[in-house]
Amino acid sequence: MPTTSSADTLLDAARAARRHAYAPYSHFAVGAAVETAEGDVVVGCNVENASIGLSICAERAAIVSAVAQGRRAFAALAVAGPAGIDTAPCGACRQFMAEFGDDMPVTFTSHDGVVKTTLRALLPFAFTAEALAPEG
Ligand code: THU
Repeated sequence: MPTTSSADTLLDAARAARRHAYAPYSHFAVGAAVETAEGDVVVGCNVENASIGLSICAERAAIVSAVAQGRRAFAALAVAGPAGIDTAPCGACRQFMAEFGDDMPVTFTSHDGVVKTTLRALLPFAFTAEALAPEG
């Protein structure tokens, strides 16, 4: 029997979290799951708001939840959107991920199945805290 990779396990967790998405405005439900450095899985879903700009993406919801649980280092992230539609993390979420993971595998659902990539490929030349170090 083939073994299930951790990326697939993480994507399953993202798919399960997607069922809790609150997306009455876009009707675009998304789930995300982060694997912490300790090997735990923390999930999130998009949560929209009548004041549209306040909506939060599933990826950031998962990361915020993990940080609130005392986890700040992430080994991998998975995103599950509607079947058949590319659901790559948005630019804001890529930057948010870069805060807590130098580089990490990122898996997301797409028009032809699943894309497995890395945060570095999604966000080259990320702006990081090192840039804020005092000079000299
Ligand atoms: N969304 C996510 O949660 N993650 C993504 O990777 C793409 C977009 C959400 C934001 C909004 O609630 C809805 O999907 C439509 O943009």
